[in-house]
Amino acid sequence: MDFLVKTVAAQRELHDFFFKEAKRRGYRSRAAYKLTEIDDKRHVLSKGDGVLDLGAAPGSWLQVVSERIGEHGKAVGVDLKSIDCGLPNNVATMQEDVTLLTPNDFGGKLFDVVLSDMAPNTTGTRTVDHHGSVNLCHVVLDLSATLLKPGGNLVMKVLEGEAYPELLKRCENSFNSAKGYKPKASRAISTEMFIICLGRNDDMPKSMELAPPPPAPGW
Ligand SMILES: C[S@@+](CC[C@H](N)C(=O)[O-])C[C@H]1O[C@@H](n2cnc3c(N)ncnc32)[C@H](O)[C@@H]1O
Repeated sequence: MDFLVKTVAAQRELHDFFFKEAKRRGYRSRAAYKLTEIDDKRHVLSKGDGVLDLGAAPGSWLQVVSERIGEHGKAVGVDLKSIDCGLPNNVATMQEDVTLLTPNDFGGKLFDVVLSDMAPNTTGTRTVDHHGSVNLCHVVLDLSATLLKPGGNLVMKVLEGEAYPELLKRCENSFNSAKGYKPKASRAISTEMFIICLGRNDDMPKSMELAPPPPAPGW
């Protein structure tokens, strides 16, 4: 019990730290530190990259991306919500539902990196939220099959659960490597983690038959 209290207190301290750091450095949210850690570890982003950031509001990942791709890179952030202006010149934004995007929305442009920090509106029921999150990840993979360059990288958030192994398998079949990772800035209590996929295969499958999610509780 004493151990549990200390662990929870240590976690809170860590999150306060990331929150204060984000404020101090002018990032729009502490989520910036999740991408920072992922990129420091796996080198997903490079100078001059074209980056598509799905579920990008309020824009802290776009701030990190902008710094890392430099003035010759270009990032496009898409979200259901509008993203406040004031981002650097190498960033553009679109207000759109990602599930409705088509390659035509980007005029045939291919990206070096696709990022997704999307999460569905949470219901509080773990299985329902998990399947909603996994379905969004499959949408991201479908889009990556047409919008990501062969050799390109993908990072996407998922809420872990029973459909995770099948999702990871699809990633492994589509990329040179695919691994799950939980950054320190992500709450230990949350099921959130990130799949880091490096090196898109030339013959990435375009889509996959999905098993229907289980019925919502109460049915
Ligand atoms: C955790 S926030 C992203 C935070 C962002 N990475 C940052 O650093 O500022 C998740 C975002 O996903 C967006 N989202 C969820 N489903 C979406 C969808 N179908 N299309 C577009 N955006 C979506 C939400 O509106 C929300 O802003």
